[in-house]
Amino acid sequence: MGEIEIRDIVESDYEEWLRLFELYLVFYEKSLPTEIKEATFKRALDPSVDMWSSLAIHPETKKPIGLVNYLRHMSTWSVTDQLYLNDLYVEEGQRLKHVGRNLIEYVYAKGDAMGAPNVYWCTDMTNHRAQLLYTKVGWYSGKVIYKRPPGSY
Ligand SMILES: CC(C)(COP(=O)(O)OP(=O)(O)OC[C@H]1O[C@@H](n2cnc3c(N)ncnc32)[C@H](O)[C@@H]1OP(=O)(O)O)[C@@H](O)C(=O)NCCC(=O)NCCS
Repeated sequence: MGEIEIRDIVESDYEEWLRLFELYLVFYEKSLPTEIKEATFKRALDPSVDMWSSLAIHPETKKPIGLVNYLRHMSTWSVTDQLYLNDLYVEEGQRLKHVGRNLIEYVYAKGDAMGAPNVYWCTDMTNHRAQLLYTKVGWYSGKVIYKRPPGSY
């Protein structure tokens, strides 16, 4: 494979973005209503919203093969904002070719450029495949995530 291009989404990407986002949801055995998927895409395009989405483009077919969604927020521990990497997905037939690594490194570069270099994300304890990549590009914080119980609000 030649050079993978990573770029932010444009309006005409919706169909392909949706295809990848839905495959990602299938991976998590989840589905979301259309209005949420549309809202996420719209927000990621809206320059007034601190949320972005970027695609990995196959060098030959020029088709999107990977997706990353991320958002920016303040912190009480820093005057600079942080980036939360919300979703990462690489199409099954395109894995183990550094597409995932390139998508994460793209977010790092975006964070540096926007003055929010502290990038973080979480994954399932059981997602070993993702962690094989994360131990190489990231630092394991040792944190455990708790949530308000679903159904309690
Ligand atoms: C996790 C995911 C994004 C990784 O994407 P990818 O494009 O395959 O990842 P990369 O090729 O960039 O990196 C994989 C790394 O793991 C390493 N790796 C993978 N399998 C390995 C194995 N069996 N043994 C050792 N290392 C392994 C590779 O060597 C590579 O490291 P390198 O860049 O130093 O060579 C992809 O598998 C995916 O979309 N999974 C389903 C959705 C998902 O889990 N998303 C993350 C949710 S938090």
